[in-house]
Amino acid sequence: MEPTAIKENLESNKIEIKNIFKSFGEKKVLNDINLSVKKNESLVIIGGSGTGKSVLIKLIMGLINPDQGEILIDGEDLCKAKDINMMRRKMGMLFQGGALFDSMTILENVAFGLRQGQNKSKKEAHEIAYEKLNAVELDERVSHLYPSELSGGMQKRAALARAIATNPEIIFFDEPTTGLDPILSGTINNLMKKCVRELGATTITITHDMKSLRNIADTVALIHQGQILWTGSIHEMDNSSNEALKQFISGSPNGPLTQN
Ligand SMILES: Nc1ncnc2c1ncn2[C@@H]1O[C@H](COP(=O)(O)OP(=O)(O)OP(=O)(O)O)[C@@H](O)[C@H]1O
Ligand SMILES: [Mg+2]
Repeated sequence: MEPTAIKENLESNKIEIKNIFKSFGEKKVLNDINLSVKKNESLVIIGGSGTGKSVLIKLIMGLINPDQGEILIDGEDLCKAKDINMMRRKMGMLFQGGALFDSMTILENVAFGLRQGQNKSKKEAHEIAYEKLNAVELDERVSHLYPSELSGGMQKRAALARAIATNPEIIFFDEPTTGLDPILSGTINNLMKKCVRELGATTITITHDMKSLRNIADTVALIHQGQILWTGSIHEMDNSSNEALKQFISGSPNGPLTQN
């Protein structure tokens, strides 16, 4: 490869994770993770419960620190960043379970990052929040309700509106369709794709929902025992002879993933 081609190749990585280790006490969760995500790519992470998927996302957001390793966002090391808040402002997140603030209305939830992170005036933040609620097809009347007054599907829409409110360059979706019926899951996937396309964002999604995965993934990464066991495209996934991957896709209780 020409040196310039190598340079361009490196530069197109929006996120690069190098040799990440993370333990909680005695418990080793991530054990030498290496992963890169290109600009505008949609990476989907799959893996069993408790394998560290959410922890990995929290590390990339700078919410927790790795024990070892580097996390580069646009080539800049997150752990050594002078202004971590500036790097975080590039990111939006749909937390596992939606996790809206109970005590705030839907409008205040969506406006939160605009007020806190971007110091927008209340008026401006609310104007943008209305726009985003419209983008996820939530009626304006919903904006003054509290999260507990909304159905699960509406809460996910509101959580999506909050995740995209600041027009982030990178968006994390942690199990965006869990608990929704198949039709609503499809609607949320389509909304996610629409919003991501409009923003030109790079995304990392965690899901157990194989239909969702097929709908949104450019690249798939399987995490197991603290390591990335396999990565590839959907096409490569369907033609892979990797036994662990095949077990995960088929949901079989027997195979390498369930051997200790
Ligand atoms: N702050 C923390 N303190 C201690 N242990 C933690 C902490 N956060 C996560 N863990 C542990 O790390 C492991 C991985 O957790 P994580 O939430 O990343 O799993 P996950 O892959 O997202 O699982 P699920 O699919 O069920 O959401 C779990 O054993 C969890 O108990
Ligand atoms: Mg999780």
